[in-house]
Order: sequence, then structure tokens, then C-alpha cells
Amino acid sequence: MNGLYKAVIRGVGSYLPETRLTNVEIEQMVETSDDWIQTRTGIVERRIARPEEATSDFAYLAARAALDDAQLEPADIDLLIVATETPDYILPPVACQVQARLGCRNIGAFDLHATCAGFLSALQVAEQYVKAGVHRHVLVVGADTLSRFTDYTDRATCILFADGAGAFVVSRSDDPAARGIVASALHSDGTYFHNLYIPGGGSRTPYGEGVKAKIVMDGRKIFKLAVNVMATTVQELLNQTGCHLDEIDWLIPHQANQRIIDAIAESLNFPAEKVISTIQNIGNNSSATIPIAVDTAIRDGRIQRGDLLMLVAFGGGLVWGGAMVEY
Ligand code: COA
Repeated sequence: MNGLYKAVIRGVGSYLPETRLTNVEIEQMVETSDDWIQTRTGIVERRIARPEEATSDFAYLAARAALDDAQLEPADIDLLIVATETPDYILPPVACQVQARLGCRNIGAFDLHATCAGFLSALQVAEQYVKAGVHRHVLVVGADTLSRFTDYTDRATCILFADGAGAFVVSRSDDPAARGIVASALHSDGTYFHNLYIPGGGSRTPYGEGVKAKIVMDGRKIFKLAVNVMATTVQELLNQTGCHLDEIDWLIPHQANQRIIDAIAESLNFPAEKVISTIQNIGNNSSATIPIAVDTAIRDGRIQRGDLLMLVAFGGGLVWGGAMVEY
């Protein structure tokens, strides 16, 4: 997608809650085993919120880290988007709480709900604003607290979900050599909504006695759909840009299950050593997985400036999408 300007990733940050929930602890809650969970998901432990913590706390800390990385002040930001499916409250948006805590100007701030593809959806919104020349710096945060909506008596779901936040500062670049966000894509198919959803707590079934405000999932079905649509999206972005898979330095898929990550790489015939995975000690924290994975690989020295990243995500909705980004 071309615009007047380039949209580059100027800063990246993330925050993980300190509390760890290990497989051994989950063995005490449901009939499962550390070995089963590791073999079927690749997860050993996941980070979850303390009782007093909520999504805006993580979103704020990730946003702060991304601003520091970008060497910008809150006053420099022109628009703030928080991708989340687990806001502190149904009303107001998390983005407004983050705006206030950062001390940004009275800029536009809104939440974007596209489940686990939320961060890439928000990134695409930021990309359009920056490329069109409307804004110079957009702060994009992905933050979720799935532990509050996880049924810890359901062994098929409680092994997967987690909490945390990650953020990018997307900025206009005047550098003619910079490529920044090269291409992006988004898709949806609402006919599969019941394969991954939270039945209660919304306007159709408001909170009340007997209402289940916890994630319900058909894991097997979601698994197959996830592999298929994420691999297809990678191919779509390659076709869109005329790039070859060899040019991609790092593949960074949504962190839902190590077997899903492996299956995408395998179906694309993409080298495993160029795939970033953080799921083992973090779990699936929805909108936060991709910026956390990018931040982790920048901090440990794998991702370098100039590297070409393929980001791809999938979530309940269904929603899926991707972005090809020169870091
Ligand atoms: N411990 C032990 N056994 C378990 C278990 C657990 N935690 N969870 C399920 N099982 C059992 C099942 O009951 C089933 O038993 P059965 O054969 O007697 O019926 C068996 O293990 C196999 O279940 P299945 O669902 O086929 O396992 P799986 O290999 O597909 O793994 C998931 C289950 C949930 C880990 C996997 O399907 C998955 O990750 N799916 C995608 C979920 C996802 O990514 N969601 C978020 C998208 S954003």
C-alpha cells in the first residue's frame, strides 16, 4: 500500500507481568501433565496478572518502553491505539487510560478489538495515517489479560492463555532509503465465530448468574484454520510485494501454540532457525504476542535494523492478517 510518506517502526517495547503460572501448578487445577502440555503446545509457563493488575497497567508500561526506545516524549504522539479484547472496563477505552497516564496531549485515543489479530489490525491503521501524512507518530499497543477470561477448570484452554503487552511507535520517515512497513493485509470470516468465543458478558448475554464469561474453544478446528490462513497470508504478502521467501529475515507468527508455529514454517518450507518463538515462557497473550516477540528478538540481538520481518496473526472472529516490515 503506497502513500505519500514512509511509515517506519521507530520504537518497540513490551511488558510482562511478574507472576508465573507453571505447568506443574496447572497439574493441580485440572487433569493434565507437564509433559502433555509441553508436547502439545510448547508451553512451560505463562505470565499472568496479579489480582490488582489489569490491561491498562501492562499497556501503559509497554507504551512507556516503546516511547523510550523511540527517544520520543508522550507529547510527540499524535494518535494512540490500543488493541485489546480484555479492557479493564467495557467503558471507557483502555487507550484513554494510557493517554492520561502517559500525559499525552488530548490526542485521539481508541481501542481496537480484533482478538489475536488486533495488534496487526492497529498497526495497519497506524500505517495508513502515517503514509497519508495525517500523523507523524502513532503509538500502537497490544495488551491483553486473558487470565481473567480463562476457565481454570477447562484443561483444553487454561493451558494456553496468558497476559502482557507490547507496543510499537510508528513514525513518518523522510529517509529515502527507509522502507518501513512494506505491505499489510487483513481478513475475516465471521461464520466460524462459535469456534472461539466468550459466550457471556456482552450485550447478547449480559453478566448474571450462570453466565459464562470465559473462553470457549474448539481447539482442533482452530488449530487447522490457524495454520492454513497464516501460511496463506504470508504467501499473499509475498505476491503483493514481489518478494521471495528467501528475502525474509524473520518470520514472527502469533504465539498460540508451538505446533502451529512449526506447522506454518513447515508448510512454507521456511527455515526453523529464522522463526521467532517466545511461547515457551510467556503463553498466548493475544494482541501482545507479536510486539513482545519482536521486542524480545531485538533485545537479544537477533533482529537488527534493516532486517525484513514477516508478521502474521490469527484469532477468534475469525480474523487474520499480516505485515511485511523492514525494521
Ligand atoms: N491435558 C491432557 N489431555 C488433554 C488436555 C490437557 N490439557 N487437553 C485436551 N486433552 C485431551 C483431549 O480431551 C483429547 O482426549 P480424547 O482423545 O480422549 O478425546 C486429547 O487430549 C486430544 O485432544 P485434542 O484437542 O485433539 O488435542 P490437540 O493436540 O489438538 O491439542 C490444543 C489441544 C488446544 C492444545 C490444540 O488443539 C490447540 O492449540 N489448538 C489451537 C488453539 C488456539 O490457538 N487458540 C487460540 C487462537 S488465537
